[in-house]
Amino acid sequence: MSLSQELIDAIEKENLVFLATSSDDVPNVVPVGFAKPLDAETILIVDNFMKKTRANLEKNPKAALVLRDASKAPYQIKGTVEIHTSGKVFEEAVDWATSVMSQLSPKAAIVFKVEEVYSVQPGPDAGERID
Ligand SMILES: Cc1cc2nc3c(=O)[nH]c(=O)nc-3n(C[C@H](O)[C@H](O)[C@H](O)COP(=O)(O)O)c2cc1C
Repeated sequence: MSLSQELIDAIEKENLVFLATSSDDVPNVVPVGFAKPLDAETILIVDNFMKKTRANLEKNPKAALVLRDASKAPYQIKGTVEIHTSGKVFEEAVDWATSVMSQLSPKAAIVFKVEEVYSVQPGPDAGERID
């Protein structure tokens, strides 16, 4: 239940993931640029503009993501998030986002704890859990 070094490198390099959330309503998916691994079990996501995503996560902290270029990194990552609006990890999110785009005013740090990794590689193993 952790990210391989290949996946850590891919998330850092890719710079865009698609983040899926749901509550009891229609599933929601959004592109997210501010997503980076903090370690092999944790991805930091910055909430700058989230609305449905944030509302879903407040109700149901389960989320899933894939990388923009899944042909290079064909993995689906599932986990549970914690939402931080103050403290060390929130400050880290603010420092990161504002160092890239000074006009941003992050609302929260979404700390995504990796629980499951699946392959989405087309073929017989598509959908198989790999970690
Ligand atoms: C290329 C791109 C990168 C984005 N990166 C972020 C991001 O890092 N953080 C964020 O809160 N919203 C980001 N957004 C905006 C979200 O995709 C989305 O518009 C926002 O969460 C509101 O949608 P929602 O109501 O479904 O949550 C990005 C949008 C695009 C097009």
